[in-house]
Amino acid sequence: MSARDPIELWDDEAATFDEAADHGLRDPAVRAVWRELLLSVMPSTPARVADLGCGTGTLTLLLAAEGYVVDGVDFSPEMIRRARAKDPVGQVTFIEADVDDPPLEPGAYDVVLCRHVLWAMPDPAVTLRRWIDLLGPDGRLVLVEGNWSTGAGLPAAETVELVQATGREAALRMLPEAAYWGREIDDERYLVVSPG
Ligand SMILES: C[S@@+](CC[C@H](N)C(=O)[O-])C[C@H]1O[C@@H](n2cnc3c(N)ncnc32)[C@H](O)[C@@H]1O
Repeated sequence: MSARDPIELWDDEAATFDEAADHGLRDPAVRAVWRELLLSVMPSTPARVADLGCGTGTLTLLLAAEGYVVDGVDFSPEMIRRARAKDPVGQVTFIEADVDDPPLEPGAYDVVLCRHVLWAMPDPAVTLRRWIDLLGPDGRLVLVEGNWSTGAGLPAAETVELVQATGREAALRMLPEAAYWGREIDDERYLVVSPG
């Protein structure tokens, strides 16, 4: 039996995706801690951000609301449709494409942001180098990843090593606090920032 197409799998997730506290950020308290976390690692505006694997556009639109110019990329038509529906004035450019090799302008971004997608790339080391190529001078990489109790994900040490193998620095911050997830967690969730 052949494996299901990943785009179809993510399309099927889209309708309920925002129900998870950290996905939809519907609870103002959860939204506030993510906002604070992201802004603490972002450059000041104006700055151009690529949100790779943007899903329903939650973080994309959060940053756009703070004055960043953001392009959100995702290969799931249903995720992109829902992201666009949250953005009636077209603050963000949402692009339907594979982020393994994003069709974005090299060197054009101040930040490449990716939450919970690097782990799913066929060869994260290769993908990461393509993402870094999108950054201009002093551009930074902001990765939120996890090594989840479901068995999916990337251990924090592995993500740090992947970034360091590109010759860049990587600062790791673990995110065990329930405030980010809307519940207690017992698996590994973290932020890795690679400054320019
Ligand atoms: C766990 S969700 C994270 C969504 C968003 N980054 C967030 O944190 O709310 C993973 C997203 O990555 C997208 N995705 C997975 N593999 C992808 C690929 N190769 N190219 C583009 N998008 C991809 C899925 O469609 C899904 O929307």
